[in-house]
Amino acid sequence: MTRLPQNPFVVRREIAYGEPFCDREQEIRTFMESAESDEPVCLLSPRRYGKSSLVNQVLGRLAEKGWVTLRLDLMTVRSLPGLQEALEGRRLEASSGWTRVKRRAADAVSRLHPQLHVDPATGTPTFSVDLSSPRSGEESALAAALEKMSSLPASIDKPVCLALDEFQEVTALDPKGRVVGMIRSAFQRRSRGFFPIYLGSRRHMLKMMFEKEAAPLYRSARMLELKELQGDDFANFVVHHFRETTGTVLPKSIGTATAALFGGYPHALNLTASRLWTAQQLAGERSAEFIRSAWKEIVTTIIQEERAYYQQINRNVSRTAMNVLANVARRGIVAGPYTAEFARQCRLTPGQIQTALRLLMKEDKVLETREGYVVFDPLEALCLRTEGVAPESLDQELDRLLEAWAEEE
Ligand SMILES: Nc1ncnc2c1ncn2[C@@H]1O[C@H](COP(=O)(O)OP(=O)(O)OP(=O)(O)O)[C@@H](O)[C@H]1O
Ligand SMILES: [Mg+2]
Repeated sequence: MTRLPQNPFVVRREIAYGEPFCDREQEIRTFMESAESDEPVCLLSPRRYGKSSLVNQVLGRLAEKGWVTLRLDLMTVRSLPGLQEALEGRRLEASSGWTRVKRRAADAVSRLHPQLHVDPATGTPTFSVDLSSPRSGEESALAAALEKMSSLPASIDKPVCLALDEFQEVTALDPKGRVVGMIRSAFQRRSRGFFPIYLGSRRHMLKMMFEKEAAPLYRSARMLELKELQGDDFANFVVHHFRETTGTVLPKSIGTATAALFGGYPHALNLTASRLWTAQQLAGERSAEFIRSAWKEIVTTIIQEERAYYQQINRNVSRTAMNVLANVARRGIVAGPYTAEFARQCRLTPGQIQTALRLLMKEDKVLETREGYVVFDPLEALCLRTEGVAPESLDQELDRLLEAWAEEE
């Protein structure tokens, strides 16, 4: 069997630098400017919006400009000594800039013990950096590792970017908040050229960490919220990569309809593109009819799979709160959640609705906008809205969507 050309649409993992990545030019510009002005950035968005992929693009560009780039995923750290260990290099991914640093600043670097590893899966070299401290004691050792980290640019004479992924996990490591205090204290005294990036998906938690006056990291970073992908950008991206890899001219309306259906949710968009690409390649079919029916089948399956995913992650949310969430999803937007009419729709009292909404907002499930309450995650909203809808009705809705976008084209 001859192998297909490589599917250009990356799914279920971060997009590496150099792989097909849709847009985000504005955000990349903001990062590059912030790097130049030593202004830390905190990037937040719901899960699977492309935060890590975006940061990979930023780190890739910075590395090309001579920066040393380091990344630590706090999800992989389980304890305070683990965090110190991670900062000391055992779990830190560093750019290959280290080899040049090693030559130029042999002295400083010999104290940092960079170590070369080769990723067994991809064969890409990664470097780890040993920032171990001579001081003893859990906290002082961690504080020292943080201090060394934030003064790294001065010791190696190169700008350094440190991305702390899933940053909200730091609070689970240390509920008393001492580590966050240490981070603030070390990073406030950072050398020029030290650029920290914090990123995470717990919006409410991160906002409390960076925007609450009493919080140690109050106003210490520029807040950047990653939004959904724009339909037009995504459609151009899909059309371009279909043509480049297979020569197929995909109707642009497939991309815009996908974006409209999933509310621009990046994971669902790229997953649709990826499955459509494979289906089309395997069938060797390019007809509009084939594309249309393959697309409908793919998005219907994705909705089912995603509904199961949300049911799984919501298993600890109370039935009352789920009921309110589903009713907000059905309405799209709820301006008066405490009216008798909405209470009737939910079969709850306004008091119960209030408690449910408070919880849902804390869990980043519902957002209060100027116009009213909305389900925060557009993909979750779609899964809730279409739950129990007859397959024929969904099928008709998909046809209507495709037609509407085809007319726009
Ligand atoms: N700019 C983009 N272009 C194309 N696809 C994208 C883009 N951003 C994200 N995606 C898709 O979304 C998926 C999730 O991306 P990524 O893992 O970077 O998100 P995340 O926000 O870091 O998620 P999590 O919160 O789960 O860590 C990718 O595998 C890819 O399919
Ligand atoms: Mg991520």
